[in-house]
Amino acid sequence: MLQKSDQLKGKVALVTGATRGIGKAIAIRLASKGVNLLITGRSVDKLCEICNLAGKYEVKIHSLVADIKDPDTPAMLMEDLRYHFGKLDYLINNAGAAFAKPFENTTPEDWDYLMNVNAKAPYFVCREAIPLLKESQSGSIVNISSVVGRLGYEMQSAYSASKHALMGFTKVLAKELKPYNIRVHAVAPGGVATEMIDRMRPDILPEELIQPEEVAEVVDFLLNFRGNAIIDQINLRRVSGVPWQ
Ligand SMILES: NC(=O)c1ccc[n+]([C@@H]2O[C@H](COP(=O)([O-])OP(=O)(O)OC[C@H]3O[C@@H](n4cnc5c(N)ncnc54)[C@H](OP(=O)(O)O)[C@@H]3O)[C@@H](O)[C@H]2O)c1
Repeated sequence: MLQKSDQLKGKVALVTGATRGIGKAIAIRLASKGVNLLITGRSVDKLCEICNLAGKYEVKIHSLVADIKDPDTPAMLMEDLRYHFGKLDYLINNAGAAFAKPFENTTPEDWDYLMNVNAKAPYFVCREAIPLLKESQSGSIVNISSVVGRLGYEMQSAYSASKHALMGFTKVLAKELKPYNIRVHAVAPGGVATEMIDRMRPDILPEELIQPEEVAEVVDFLLNFRGNAIIDQINLRRVSGVPWQ
């Protein structure tokens, strides 16, 4: 049997950007499956809220308030994991930022901001997490990319570049970590009903958006899937969109 429903129970996951949107849905989904959690983000109040929501399941949950761009954050996260849990099985690099701007108006500061949050931070969180994931014997990394990590949309040049960068190192990491039985995946959604899409694509009808819980379901599936097949990337598109684009 490839899927075991209780396979996640007792595991430890780090979910970045868990204060709202997709990260919140992933954190709650994993808690409901018995996964112990370290969650992070910048909003103290929202982290407390997620701890309370996820805390109704019988899991251990800790939060760390941190800016993912801060160069000290990856090491601090690993310290917290070692101190509170003594291990890490699943790393979900979800924290992300985006804005819509024409290419010609994009400033060096805009570029740096998105590259730092969407590409540099997950790169260094992965780097710090690898020793713990190796100890796990069956670790997984899920990098939340985007449809613009493989395509290009107008007004999203810097965002698209940052997600392409994320995809680039994800592909290499999948190969380098394979000998340690660590699976590395990318999930690339189209428009998901979160605050981010409200800002980026107010033209999309709310009822046409993918739900954050659907992305969380895919992450849950990836973490459970330990068969003979390796899954590289899962693309999710809106039901109103065109398949294979
Ligand atoms: N929504 C979509 O349509 C869509 C589509 C494809 C891919 N994605 C990707 O999915 C992921 C989640 O996006 P979302 O839609 O859930 O966005 P969101 O609602 O804006 O949430 C973003 C999350 O990232 C955290 N974050 C952002 N900047 C941070 C920073 N500097 N330091 C620490 N945490 C930071 C936020 O927490 P704080 O504000 O508390 O720090 C928040 O928890 C992102 O990687 C995004 O690129 C989204």
